[in-house]
Amino acid sequence: MSDDHATTYLSDYKQSDYVLETTELDVVFAPDEMDVKAKLTFSLREGTAPGQTLKLDGERMELVSISVDGHPLEESEYIVTDKSLEVSSPPEKFVLETVVRLKPEANKSLEGLYRSSGVWCTQCEAEGFRRITYFYDRPDVMSVFTVRMEADKSDAPVLLSNGNPVESGDLDGNRHFAVWHDPHPKPSYLFAMVAGDLAHISDEFTTSSGKHVDLAIYVEHGKEGQCAWAMDSLIRSMKWDEERFGCEYDLDVFNIVAVSDFNLGAMENKGLNIFNDKYILSDPQTATDQDYENIEAIIAHEYFHNWTGNRITCRDWFQLCLKEGLTVFRDQEFTSDERSRAVKRIEDTRDLRAHQFAEDSGPLSHPPRPNQFKEINNFYTATVYEKGAEVVRMILTYLGKDTFRKGMDIYLERHDGDAAVIEDFVKCFEDASGKDLSHLQKWYTVAGRPEINVSHSYDAENKRLSVTLAQTNKATPNDAEKEPKFIPIRFGLVSNNGVDLNWNSVSGAQVEGDLMIMDQAEHHVVFEGVSSKPTLSLFREFSSPVSVKSDLTMEDKLNLARLDNDPFNRWDSLQNVALDILVPAAKVGGEDPSPQDLGKLADAFRAILIDDDVDNAFKALALALPSQIVLAEHVGTDIDPERVYDVRRMSLSAIASMIEPELAAAYKSLVDDADYSPDAASAGKRALKNQCLGLLLAADDEKGSQVAVAQYHEAANMSDRSAALGALASAGHPAAKEVLAHFRENYCDNILVFDKWLSLNAIMPDSAALDRVKSLMDDPQFNIENPNRVRSLVGAFASNQVQFGRRDGASFEFITGLVADIDTRTPQLAARLLTMFRSFKKYESTRREAARSALENLKNDSKLSPDCTDILERTLNG
Ligand code: BES
Ligand code: ZN
Repeated sequence: MSDDHATTYLSDYKQSDYVLETTELDVVFAPDEMDVKAKLTFSLREGTAPGQTLKLDGERMELVSISVDGHPLEESEYIVTDKSLEVSSPPEKFVLETVVRLKPEANKSLEGLYRSSGVWCTQCEAEGFRRITYFYDRPDVMSVFTVRMEADKSDAPVLLSNGNPVESGDLDGNRHFAVWHDPHPKPSYLFAMVAGDLAHISDEFTTSSGKHVDLAIYVEHGKEGQCAWAMDSLIRSMKWDEERFGCEYDLDVFNIVAVSDFNLGAMENKGLNIFNDKYILSDPQTATDQDYENIEAIIAHEYFHNWTGNRITCRDWFQLCLKEGLTVFRDQEFTSDERSRAVKRIEDTRDLRAHQFAEDSGPLSHPPRPNQFKEINNFYTATVYEKGAEVVRMILTYLGKDTFRKGMDIYLERHDGDAAVIEDFVKCFEDASGKDLSHLQKWYTVAGRPEINVSHSYDAENKRLSVTLAQTNKATPNDAEKEPKFIPIRFGLVSNNGVDLNWNSVSGAQVEGDLMIMDQAEHHVVFEGVSSKPTLSLFREFSSPVSVKSDLTMEDKLNLARLDNDPFNRWDSLQNVALDILVPAAKVGGEDPSPQDLGKLADAFRAILIDDDVDNAFKALALALPSQIVLAEHVGTDIDPERVYDVRRMSLSAIASMIEPELAAAYKSLVDDADYSPDAASAGKRALKNQCLGLLLAADDEKGSQVAVAQYHEAANMSDRSAALGALASAGHPAAKEVLAHFRENYCDNILVFDKWLSLNAIMPDSAALDRVKSLMDDPQFNIENPNRVRSLVGAFASNQVQFGRRDGASFEFITGLVADIDTRTPQLAARLLTMFRSFKKYESTRREAARSALENLKNDSKLSPDCTDILERTLNG
């Protein structure tokens, strides 16, 4: 294992010695080898002693020429290493000109400048610009960019970069050029360039102050027909950001380009967002409801970065959460406003618990703002993103909507044009509210999640409710001592008829309306004047990202599932009932759940299914048992994934059998033949129908599979078709095989649909899964260099907990071998795959040792990238 990669520390932050004023690039596109000319205007930073060496980042390129103020440098005047360019004692003000040679075709890392299906494109965040030219490749160095691009007209009729187009024209020899100017100073990570033969759709937007903006989405020829939803989502995002946050767009054009080889989902480059085409392309025949929702959310997310990320950027990469946590919060709010707030909150919480909780309780645990890293690419995590969004949400919860908006207004105005830090952000809310938020700020810097213990009693005679709340904060890697956290708790005292009860007075904690603040290790809260015995509903809307252990009985929880006026807690209470029943059973040697207990869950499912007051999307979420990952997280240690799987499956079958008639009736009533529309209500209807289908299959193999196969064949859209096939596949039903073959035969010409097929193959729980995954890698349509293919097959296999967690360790060996292979080309992708092992220490001993030995072999055998080395070390040692 190579370990020449230094650790970067937050405490070492220092400004650059020189200020970069302008950046001019001149790029001549050519196959195989091409040159990038850079003209950078520097001046010595005020207060810095003259004569400092200029030290720029740069890697994987060849320096062709270098000059200062027009004079070529002697070899003794600069040093080039494999990571940097150093110019010794330049003048106090100077122009540095370099020419570097790049080989984009040979670049398989999908960072820097590379080619995707013949299109030249770039990905610079976090540190990719240093593969394009020598530069201060750090987010606090912001400059005004002017970019001239030149190419053969047939190879690249489209030439795009950031900012506004200022000039373009033809040149001799079938060549042409375009000049782009971005008036907004920006850091290098927001730079982008696209050159290729692309089709586009266009539209327009007028901002609230009357500015006209040309919008375009560029895609491969023939795919223009699949961009309408993405464009519609963009326009709605632009409008929403004006209305909700007063953020207007600030250039004459906004371009989006979809490419098929992309490490991530999408990237917010100024005025030129680049997307994984999977998050642009849709039509009813190829995309599911989930795809439509993802496209809408990711378009919004990248667009929202224009203010939270671009206009206000990060001082250093430790502040990543400043832009990502905040922008995730913003895209979640957008989806909540466009669709259903309660449903979105449940989905986000479900995902946070499945991913962020697992990350945070294992060796890769870190705070939303870490204070050290070896490889920043490995910190684009659920913790930085999703927990980061939760911290912003806690600020909103604590301050209320109006004060929160005031704080955002201050932030957007005060820091426009800045490279800011988390403290700047929090300060704006302190100024807006006059409150001290230092306690809340600690959420950014401390890893792990508090566990809250709740006990309570009601004294009927004195009409007094006493609640004891205690928090514990466990040690995490690098971080043993932890102070109590600041925890906003939205709550209600639920009466027998579901109406919240009032109280006359309360002591022991700060309580305002339905908000209680916990800021000590322990609180004894006493409510006086509570007229009847309430059921305690805490953490409504998931008001803080904590775990809760309460003394609520099963009856209490079932009551809340039925009655709580907070839909989130209705859902959550039912999940808790299921956890109480399933988790003890899912432990090694655990007893099967009792039919009585499962009967209670079945009754609760039935009640929700036939409740006319809640919407279909909510029902679909409520009629689900906790996922295998969440169950395992609750089992905690000595996990046997087969036992977890069996308990979940048998419970599902038992519950579904008990409510089969209601499921069948609901299913029937939800079938309709309306034209496909991706709106929330239609999608919710399909979601519930397909949830019923899965339960029908769990209730009765024979009958259920007939319904599923029929739905598959009759489906008028991809949502219903893939849901039917998915139900069969995830149940490991024998009928899945034939239907999968049919799907391959009939729908997989479209590569994004082929990806769905790959995932379905990978999630089937039968013991042939590993062999199937291995042999699919030889499929002619599979391509190990394409992240979408790899993630669809191998990433999906990670969620097949039983077969990934095979007792004989065969899957562990396979994955580590694959990681070593992929790492030679696409290290970022390899490092992501390696996080599949983040919970390996929680397995029972046989699996744990098998996983450890696969990881040790990887460590000993391979010369790994810094990306993989970092994950591997932390996974083994953390
Ligand atoms: N800035 C990121 C893209 C990024 C991610 C760059 C990792 C470098 C490393 C972008 O805004 C982003 O967050 N994209 C997400 C999707 C988003 C909706 C959460 C992604 O690509 O997964
Ligand atoms: Zn982002």
